[in-house]
Amino acid sequence: MASAQPFVLRWGVISTGRIAMEFVKDCVLDPKTRGTTDVVHKVVAVGSRHANVQKAKEFITAYGNGEHIKAYGTYEEVFADKDVDAIYIGTPHTQHYENALAGLLAGKHVLCEKAATSNAAELRRLLSVAKEKNLFFMEAMWTRFQPLTLEVKRIAEEGTLGDPVVLHADLSHDFDLENIPKSHRMLDPRLGGGALLDLGPYPMIWTVLALYEHPSNQKAPPTSVSASMVKTPITGVDSSTSWTVNFTSTLRAQAILSCSMTVPTAHFGATIRYRNGNIIIGTPIFKPTSFTVQYFDSPGSGVIVREEKRSFHYVGGGWHYEADEVARCIRDGKLESDLWGHAKSLLLMDTFDEVRRQGGYKLPDGVEKVF
Ligand SMILES: NC(=O)c1ccc[n+]([C@@H]2O[C@H](COP(=O)([O-])OP(=O)(O)OC[C@H]3O[C@@H](n4cnc5c(N)ncnc54)[C@H](OP(=O)(O)O)[C@@H]3O)[C@@H](O)[C@H]2O)c1
Repeated sequence: MASAQPFVLRWGVISTGRIAMEFVKDCVLDPKTRGTTDVVHKVVAVGSRHANVQKAKEFITAYGNGEHIKAYGTYEEVFADKDVDAIYIGTPHTQHYENALAGLLAGKHVLCEKAATSNAAELRRLLSVAKEKNLFFMEAMWTRFQPLTLEVKRIAEEGTLGDPVVLHADLSHDFDLENIPKSHRMLDPRLGGGALLDLGPYPMIWTVLALYEHPSNQKAPPTSVSASMVKTPITGVDSSTSWTVNFTSTLRAQAILSCSMTVPTAHFGATIRYRNGNIIIGTPIFKPTSFTVQYFDSPGSGVIVREEKRSFHYVGGGWHYEADEVARCIRDGKLESDLWGHAKSLLLMDTFDEVRRQGGYKLPDGVEKVF
């Protein structure tokens, strides 16, 4: 239950990269600017690797909004800080397992960037540790908590459109592969480089929302996955990947998904097709600002008799909505979010394992810590 005083969640942030910056900038915003009055975020510590306390200090000066935030030259000091309730992990994918495990073993709740881990076995291990220690764990699938996404879900499930049949979704971005170092996290296989683990979570979040979460699916997991990868000759990681995910236990539905790191994103963003109409979600699909619903005159006709467009704007980058969710869950003693819980993160990692298996993308020896 929300009390009169907002619940304050005290964050420790590990890493000072691009996404850690976005997260911290959103956390230090006044929550009232987005209509949030029941929770507040306080960033109390930021840690950078390799005894690089200067990097953490510079990060705090640049993005800490003048607040008093402790700078550390190691992640371990953030985990050990008694003032920290929850750790935000913004390191490359293949570091997530060890970082999250260390946070949990230190008794902290964890919000971990996507992709949650290198593989599903690592995630299963983390989830069992979180449960054993009675701690909250969530993958940072921020799109799931944005107001637009909540409204798409409401319309998708209110009944007029019927059951979903086909979903198309793409997220691509030209990372200029020829001109970035091979050690860049998008190219280095030791950091889980490639399009799939970085961009793939976003086509999947719409798949989970529109197909897996649809009441007619009755929470049935995917029945099959088929995939194909194109690798870059630079380091051998996937530059373009496409995959389909079928849900045929109770629905007769299919997601057709793609991601690429050598072209801009596809114009169609995400389109969910129903017998009675379509929901067309704008680009970029990680943070769309509008969606359109088309209604047909009769099931399967394709004749649009009504079209409604909705737009969404807010103060901040959009990462604060996931932070609010974490704060509410921890306040309420939950170990996982109802909106993006453990089963959904596992669905993603199981799918990615299968896509990599079919695509012949094996991470280098020693990268995966659990099999
Ligand atoms: N939610 C989103 O919208 C979103 C967007 C982009 C990325 N991401 C996810 O966030 C993670 C980080 O992405 P990013 O774009 O922020 O990457 P980035 O700018 O390269 O930052 C990663 C940071 O991780 C730390 N780090 C720890 N071990 C590292 C290693 N072995 N190599 C390189 N850096 C290491 C470094 O910080 P220190 O040196 O300070 O320790 C580095 O600055 C990825 O898992 C990615 O999928 C999420």
